[in-house]
Amino acid sequence: MATEFNPDAEIIRISTAGSVDDGKSTLLGRLLVDTDSVYEDHFENLRRTSEHRGETEVNLALLADGLKAEREQGITIDVAYRYFSTPKKRFILADTPGHTQYTRNMITGASTADAAMILIDARHGMTEQSKRHAFITSLLRVPQVIVVINKMDLVEYSEEVFREIEAAFRVYSQRLTITNLSFIPVSALLGENVVTRSEKTPWYRGPSVLERLEELTPEAKRTPPDVRLPIQYVIRPDQNFRGYMGRLESGVIRKGDEMTVLPSGQSVTIRQLFELDGEVTEASAGSNVLVTFDREVDASRGDMLVRPRNLPTITQRIEAVICWMAEEPSSTAKPYVLRQTTREVSASLEEVVYRFEVETLHRDEVGSLKMNDIGRVVIGTGRPIFMDTYEHNRPLGSFLLIDPVSNGVVAAGMANRVNASEVSNASREKGLVVWLTGLSGAGKSTVSDALVDLLKREGLDAARLDGDDLRTGLNSDLGFTPEDRAENLRRSAHVAKLFANLGHITLCSFISPLNADRRKIREIIGDRYVEVYVRASLAECERRDPKGLYKKARSGEIRQFTGISSTFEEPESPDFVLNTEGVSIDEAVQVLANVIRKRLENH
Ligand code: ADX
Repeated sequence: MATEFNPDAEIIRISTAGSVDDGKSTLLGRLLVDTDSVYEDHFENLRRTSEHRGETEVNLALLADGLKAEREQGITIDVAYRYFSTPKKRFILADTPGHTQYTRNMITGASTADAAMILIDARHGMTEQSKRHAFITSLLRVPQVIVVINKMDLVEYSEEVFREIEAAFRVYSQRLTITNLSFIPVSALLGENVVTRSEKTPWYRGPSVLERLEELTPEAKRTPPDVRLPIQYVIRPDQNFRGYMGRLESGVIRKGDEMTVLPSGQSVTIRQLFELDGEVTEASAGSNVLVTFDREVDASRGDMLVRPRNLPTITQRIEAVICWMAEEPSSTAKPYVLRQTTREVSASLEEVVYRFEVETLHRDEVGSLKMNDIGRVVIGTGRPIFMDTYEHNRPLGSFLLIDPVSNGVVAAGMANRVNASEVSNASREKGLVVWLTGLSGAGKSTVSDALVDLLKREGLDAARLDGDDLRTGLNSDLGFTPEDRAENLRRSAHVAKLFANLGHITLCSFISPLNADRRKIREIIGDRYVEVYVRASLAECERRDPKGLYKKARSGEIRQFTGISSTFEEPESPDFVLNTEGVSIDEAVQVLANVIRKRLENH
């Protein structure tokens, strides 16, 4: 097969699955030898040269390599990737050992595969493991499946044996979603039907394994047109350059395109677009890109760039099929981390709906999943994720669950249903009322506005409630007598509580001058209440006088003005005192953000 190496040939990713001793290594070995494994070195060279070429201002190639290494980190331990090529195609073959943790390995190998090759020992026929392989291949929606029925030499190249296994496999897979299915009778050991067609199987008219592999088409071409660019790195080599790097999972982006940054919702226009080789005007799915924008935005790793009118589902609740991969069974009481694209959020398994019985495809009701179990679950996340269903978009719909303590992957999953705007239990627990009390001009509203922005950027669900706002509507019948203030605060506290119950971190800015009123507010809201005394001296507030009210109060134009003609009691027992005198707004906001994060952790 030693012919010219073709660097422009399409790359096909194939996963292989087999049981112990079914001859997988022999088959792979033969493919590698017969296609001349010298090609493996070509791959190396190609990679190295592009690395050198890429060393322009920003070292794109090295970053691209970094991306790749990271993508595969943590879960590829037992999967070996082998490279070989023919003049027509280049192949990356994920070789997953069949003995231990086979499901886990297979999922790893198959999740990005264009095709799966399932090996069956002709003497044993369709075993439980073969079913499992078919099942996982179907779950992962691997679009092309080749069933290699091996060791045909040991059953005298019997057509009957071959047809029987084919029939059993077809019966089983009828209930799955496998579309493009083919069967090849092979003797890997003797090289029959591996590279060239065998004379030992005159009854078989199909292609050899290699011929079949060459017919495959790359899955990358099948991703949907939706633009999904998860940010992996922010690059800032100097003050004047800020670039965002990541793999374009699907869609096409062009210089000048308007984009939306999730979760902040900011809109930007792509100013420059780079690929490995340098600046380009267009990039398509599968490429690692670096983009710069027309304006400054606050976007970081785990955020996502999408087209404004084509958003993924932003959700905190997903229904998914997961494969459990850890020794320790799944638990609805334990915290996990969900990693999807470059985003990591806290997550909990809210429910195991059922477990698949792989042999019969029955659904068992179980409380938890054990190692290698595959089941349907409901997952809640602490912060929103940006998802499409796996069926629609494989990279966006797949995820891993990670044990936050050991950092090990405990499950791989595929989203079947993603529901927008559903608030998960996990997030409901994040609801909090941060009540800012203090003099007019102390900085309550300024701090809370900036804080809402900051928390939202972190993917937290934050909202603000403000005395001025509520007084124009709900509380417009109330003035500033002590009684009216008490009623104003009572109503506002109830509204804040409703907000918190919906999962919002609610920042409330109300003067709330009296300890008696603050005690009532605490009672109404309960244990989700954090009282923050935003402190600045009266002299300082009067100096700031942002609304010109102190001046009016001094001149008698406004009566019962807090601090001047109406009492402000220093809070008796605030949870936190935030000084705004002598510190910048930014500093104050950071301090308070930390208080909130700590409080959320202790929930
Ligand atoms: S509270 O005392 O009942 O908690 P709240 O925070 O809702 O007051 O409203 C305070 C806002 O109302 C101030 O920020 C200011 O803009 C406006 N305001 C108008 N008159 C007064 C007043 N007499 N005392 C305090 N604030 C006033």
